Amino acid sequence: MKNKGCNRSLSECRETGADADSVSVAPTTGCRVTVTGLGYVGLPTAVLLAQAGYRVKGVDRNPEVLERIRAGRVLRKEERLPTLLREVLEDGRLALSAEPMEADVYLIAVPTPLRPDGSADVSCVFAALDALIPFFKPNDLLLLESTVPVGTTERAAGSVFDRRPELKGKLRVAYCPERVLPGRMYVEMRRNPRVVGGLDDASTAEALRFYASFVTGSLSGTTAQHAEFCKLFENTARLIELAAANLLWLLCEKADLNPDEAARLVGLHPRVRLLRPGCGVGGHCIPVDPCFLVQAFPEETGLIRAALAVNERKTERCIELIRNAVSQEREKKGRKPVVALMGLSYKPDTDDLRKSAALRIAQEAGRWKEAECLFAEPNREEVPGLPLTDYREAFRRADIAVFLVAHAEFSGLPLPAGKRVLDFR
Ligand SMILES: NC(=O)c1ccc[n+]([C@@H]2O[C@H](COP(=O)([O-])OP(=O)(O)OC[C@H]3O[C@@H](n4cnc5c(N)ncnc54)[C@H](O)[C@@H]3O)[C@@H](O)[C@H]2O)c1
Repeated sequence: MKNKGCNRSLSECRETGADADSVSVAPTTGCRVTVTGLGYVGLPTAVLLAQAGYRVKGVDRNPEVLERIRAGRVLRKEERLPTLLREVLEDGRLALSAEPMEADVYLIAVPTPLRPDGSADVSCVFAALDALIPFFKPNDLLLLESTVPVGTTERAAGSVFDRRPELKGKLRVAYCPERVLPGRMYVEMRRNPRVVGGLDDASTAEALRFYASFVTGSLSGTTAQHAEFCKLFENTARLIELAAANLLWLLCEKADLNPDEAARLVGLHPRVRLLRPGCGVGGHCIPVDPCFLVQAFPEETGLIRAALAVNERKTERCIELIRNAVSQEREKKGRKPVVALMGLSYKPDTDDLRKSAALRIAQEAGRWKEAECLFAEPNREEVPGLPLTDYREAFRRADIAVFLVAHAEFSGLPLPAGKRVLDFR
């Protein structure tokens, strides 16, 4: 890959890596990267690329997102990234914009949600791509990091070559999925093993060189389709593991057994690894990505549909148990009980509410006339539609404390006698 201001290919560049996790290939300061989509994946990637020595343009079509980034109201729970973001914005290594411009590497990390009919909505990927097509030149590298159905990278490349046929065989295109855990972005973005799937061998090789310049984890080159499938199946495996944990809990509850004791005993088997059940499975990845496989392979994916249904049943059962507790406390006290819904995000120690089971439970409880609900989410200043109460205050006032998410803040709360606690962590 040649580029303006850096007339060597990335593979030839061996200068300073700004950070010491000791990457084998470092960019020169001239290499330009555009990152489209500055959310949970795109923003930390843009920061790490800027830190590694690239000149980065971060593009997001939402002006509020750009504003939040400029004001530093992002990445708060992430180690090192808030400071690094400030540094790279201040010295201009990362510039923000609503519009893309010419670069040498283009990375797309925009949302790929489900449509109401259960199909994958990749319209943001194609909209982002559309805006980039005029800027592409021979030897540029186009990278998709959004999670997509198998075959999307090839389709994306096809739409580029339809409009710019002269780039066929000259533009490098690859799909490189993310595996980061929110809260551990700084470490995981650089150290996780990554799969890099090119449209052709030259694309795979160039993409591998690019990732080697800021990732220290192992990199596995493959085809774009294998990389796309691999991302979808990883999250399918997680979905099924979570369903197994929730199934154990549901069965124990029905059989009047202690699920913690049962899980402890099952976990003593040398080859069984159970996850912890929660109040359901949320987030924009695990309940979503497997549906891309269901859409493509409806006959073979009964197990995925069953896992989705078990996880959904767990959320419904939590709602039923909270409602039962409300009825009992109301009768006992002769007034509306105060219910504290502790944690609203989709997993511990994140502010991310997307498809959160805890949020759904809280919204449902908030509609009940027979309870006074307090909502606590220590990772957010506000949650649309639900007034927040400080978590200590909510817990102190609660007749019924319902722990929905295992946030670190909650682990130190003392459990006074007389307070009814439902713990779904
Ligand atoms: N968040 C994760 O932990 C994670 C992990 C692995 C994969 N992914 C995948 O990565 C992709 C991005 O996820 P995310 O969590 O970062 O999403 P996000 O919603 O946090 O951020 C996406 C950003 O893209 C912007 N955007 C949308 N369309 C655009 C366009 N046409 N031009 C410019 N900006 C646009 C949005 O305004 C938003 O700020 C998804 O496909 C997701 O499934 C996410």
